[in-house]
Amino acid sequence: MTSKRVLATLCATLLSAVSAQSAEVNVYSGRGEALIKPLLDTFSKETGIKVNLVSGKDDALIERLKAEGAQSPADVLMTADAGRLHRAKAAGLLQAVDSPTLNAAIPAAYRDPGNQWFGLTLRARVIVYAPERVKREELSTYEGLADPSWKGRVCMRSSDSIYNQSLTAALIAHDGEAATLDWAKGVVANLARPPKGGDRDQIKAIAAGECDVSLVNTYYLAGMQNAEEPAEREAAAKVAVFWPNQKDRGAHVNVSGAGITAAAKNVAEARKLLEFLVSDEAQRWYAEVNQEYPVKAGIAISPTLRTMGAFKADALPLARLGELNAQAVRLLDRAGWR
Ligand SMILES: [Fe+2]
Repeated sequence: MTSKRVLATLCATLLSAVSAQSAEVNVYSGRGEALIKPLLDTFSKETGIKVNLVSGKDDALIERLKAEGAQSPADVLMTADAGRLHRAKAAGLLQAVDSPTLNAAIPAAYRDPGNQWFGLTLRARVIVYAPERVKREELSTYEGLADPSWKGRVCMRSSDSIYNQSLTAALIAHDGEAATLDWAKGVVANLARPPKGGDRDQIKAIAAGECDVSLVNTYYLAGMQNAEEPAEREAAAKVAVFWPNQKDRGAHVNVSGAGITAAAKNVAEARKLLEFLVSDEAQRWYAEVNQEYPVKAGIAISPTLRTMGAFKADALPLARLGELNAQAVRLLDRAGWR
């Protein structure tokens, strides 16, 4: 080898060592840090790619991305609900990722048709009720909660909640706008108290006898069933799950997911991270720790979720929830759903 070639080889080796060392990916995450950090650490160990994690409130992170624009250090946005992922896309904050790995692992209904966001974990929005005061035969569908027989018996969180907005969007998609407006008015007329609190608070209100029935995401109930605080476990033990719309389209489901930002500087690393998150190992851990259903087929669900039973999921492509979000928000406002 000539000395020139030795020098060139040495330079190339040094360069690749430097770039390997500096390989990193910056993540803005709306998930609780404890729910995602160990998984990101595993990714770093396996790939040598350092993950810089910024945790925050979902909507605040989206506002931050907007404010930072092309200067944003973020490469990946992780956030909950297809409605919110769609908002990030509509605001031009994400970029398309053409990944056969992601497309193979995630059913088409659970990712953006334009490949800008990908569902990573799945949750259902179920009816919870007080078995002491409600007969299962009284329950059937989301639509049924507008029936006058529920007058004064329903608790709901506010219409600010993306979860209720996305459910309303699904109802618009299936039943049409006029019927969904009637439904929302009916639910409002049945409320036991003005909308307030989060999903856990609806479970606590049923446990306290303030109302008989509500809607919650499965992981909140599962989380309370496994909580360290006895009060949380006791409240959870006083409610039962009913899977709505099993005789027709199936229960409303949604995802937590992620996309690569439009401003990303570390696109290859970001893509590797998303692909890692749909690996069998990550899907199992992520779903189990978060008490969510894996998006990927063939991965075991947590023992707690198993106790809730099998269910039929609504096949509506979740991108529709984003497209109908603004319409849903206006409709809930018109119905007087605070
Ligand atoms: Fe949540």
